[in-house]
Amino acid sequence: MKSKPIMLKLGGSVITVKDKFLTPNTEAINRLAEEVADSEVSHLVIVHGGGSYGHPIAARYKITEGFKGKHQLIGFSETHNAMMSLNKLIVEALIGKGLPALSISPSSSIITRHGRIHDIPLDILTHAVSMGFIPVSYGDPVLDHEKGFAILSGDQLISILAVKLGAEKVIVGVDVDGLYTSDPKTNPSAQLIEHATLGDLRELVGEVSGSKTVDVTGGMMGKIFELTLPVMNGIEVLIVNALKPDNIRRALSGENVRGTRIIKG
Ligand code: IPE
Repeated sequence: MKSKPIMLKLGGSVITVKDKFLTPNTEAINRLAEEVADSEVSHLVIVHGGGSYGHPIAARYKITEGFKGKHQLIGFSETHNAMMSLNKLIVEALIGKGLPALSISPSSSIITRHGRIHDIPLDILTHAVSMGFIPVSYGDPVLDHEKGFAILSGDQLISILAVKLGAEKVIVGVDVDGLYTSDPKTNPSAQLIEHATLGDLRELVGEVSGSKTVDVTGGMMGKIFELTLPVMNGIEVLIVNALKPDNIRRALSGENVRGTRIIKG
């Protein structure tokens, strides 16, 4: 690919109302579509999360545990169907702003092994991006060689795509300002970590000393685990608050934004 794409993850907590089943955050979706349009980024790939669309159904049918019985099949279908509905809302919002968004469904082309992607077809994506389309993919239930099926998170997907597509950077839009020394939602003295290297991250998650230096929340821990891959490959990762107006436009345009910037070091 001639020009390196920017990868944008839109977290489920941004584009949906997390505690209201199947409820989109329409205001955020429309504003984010506008911000993407205003940034005038030429090569972009978007991956979004599940929020109150994917997670509750996947949890009810224990899709992450893999295939245990036939009763789960309908749950797999319902989870995927809910993700397609959410994806349609994002794609429609982007098209509404004149952007050539193109839905890409993971479960139609990816089979995992123990929940991990081993290979991923790239032809359509690279072709679409180089033509100027904006592929819009998402975390999705996928078939799995060992477990029958699994949940592929948007974070795992965007991290692998970033490396395979040789991305310029990965922007991760969440509902907090970035990575904190402890959970900012429960601890008012939590400090935002503005810059981190790969070594810092390993320290944070306890990989080096065996004890964690910060109390990272479960969700953030999973993110860091996945986002290590692009960072290891020299791709900068920027975690920003996508609920704050203009942050995503600024991040896409390369302007300064409050958040956590992670580099290889
Ligand atoms: C999960 O994707 C998708 C499903 C549950 C089907 P993510 O794990 O990326 O979603 P968020 O961003 O945490 O909501």
